Amino acid sequence: MDKSITAACLSALLLISCRTNNEVQKMIDKNLFGTLPDGQQVYSYTLKNKVGMEVSIINYGAAVVSLTAPDRNGKFEDIVLGYDSLEGYINDKSYFGSIVGRYGNRIGKGKFSIDGSNYQLTINDGENHLHGGINGYNKVFWNAEPVTTDSSQSLKLTYVSQDGEQGYPGTVTLQVIYTLNDNNELQINYTGVTDKPTILNPTHHSYFNLTGNQENTILDHELTINAENFTPVVKGLITTGGLAKVENTPLDFRKHEKIGLRINNDFEQLKLGNGYDHNWALDNYNGKLQKAVELYDSSSGRKMEVFTDQPGMQFYSGNFLDGTIKGKKNILYKLRTGLCLEAQGFPDSPNKPSFPSVRLNPGEKYKQTTIYKFSTR
Ligand code: BGC
Repeated sequence: MDKSITAACLSALLLISCRTNNEVQKMIDKNLFGTLPDGQQVYSYTLKNKVGMEVSIINYGAAVVSLTAPDRNGKFEDIVLGYDSLEGYINDKSYFGSIVGRYGNRIGKGKFSIDGSNYQLTINDGENHLHGGINGYNKVFWNAEPVTTDSSQSLKLTYVSQDGEQGYPGTVTLQVIYTLNDNNELQINYTGVTDKPTILNPTHHSYFNLTGNQENTILDHELTINAENFTPVVKGLITTGGLAKVENTPLDFRKHEKIGLRINNDFEQLKLGNGYDHNWALDNYNGKLQKAVELYDSSSGRKMEVFTDQPGMQFYSGNFLDGTIKGKKNILYKLRTGLCLEAQGFPDSPNKPSFPSVRLNPGEKYKQTTIYKFSTR
């Protein structure tokens, strides 16, 4: 055969195989996770980075169903609670891993008003509205689109929430992009628009357990929250509308402290929450991304930092886990075996004029960036 033809063939072959390798490396794994009762198929999309971290997300509830991070010896383990099957997420009442909305956290009696119009939301937590109501964003099918770049993998999820859904005014289109980069950062970018004045306050609801063993509690995790103040609550965990100093209280996490150290203290706020279930008013809030939280587990060496541009951080210490929920690997999730760190506006802000507003008008764009960054020590 003519040598030049052979060389041309070889280089063409090389090109094809190179391109194929590249594409394989860049591809986001997509696997059928289950089928909803209405026939819609739910997939899990696994984002991977070059240093071995993996995050799997499903397009039901936009939920993170697993997240593996290395311990100090390089051992990767799943550090979020969840279920092995779609059925678990359909029946879930704990919001494992999901995006919650339209309004994350509680709205007193599910009532609020905008420009003189009163709205009544669905009631799903005693007499109050919690995490978007009976069928919040954690219970809906999201449109999913995988996106890759040279240094990261992303999943873009979109949900159109209709005018009147769960009682909220206005059709809201919310886009959530999860991105995993090579610095072991899971970044969540939210953008939202509406066609009528409304409220929008979505958040992410993973339950973390950095030990890598979901039979363990999170009580030995050390926590730092950069906040001098929190928003105290009354019965039903509705905020009073004021701020209180963390100083000289068990809610002072300005210096890292084991979560279990003061959780059972005789302190009214802890009794109301059955543990930690409060919103911290982050210091130096100015709408820009800043470090809000550090969480460390000395047994594994895993560390997680949370950066956000939001004013508040709800720290929930898994007080309603009671050993009855069967999670991954058939583990019954016991009290305080997972904790949530939810970046958001202040709870019940639509009824508390002194709290930062979460109102969204037509023509405006809601934006949030929150990053969960993993490392070891
Ligand atoms: C809330 C808890 C609630 C839990 C539901 C958390 O974000 O702060 O009060 O029970 O979500 O799983």
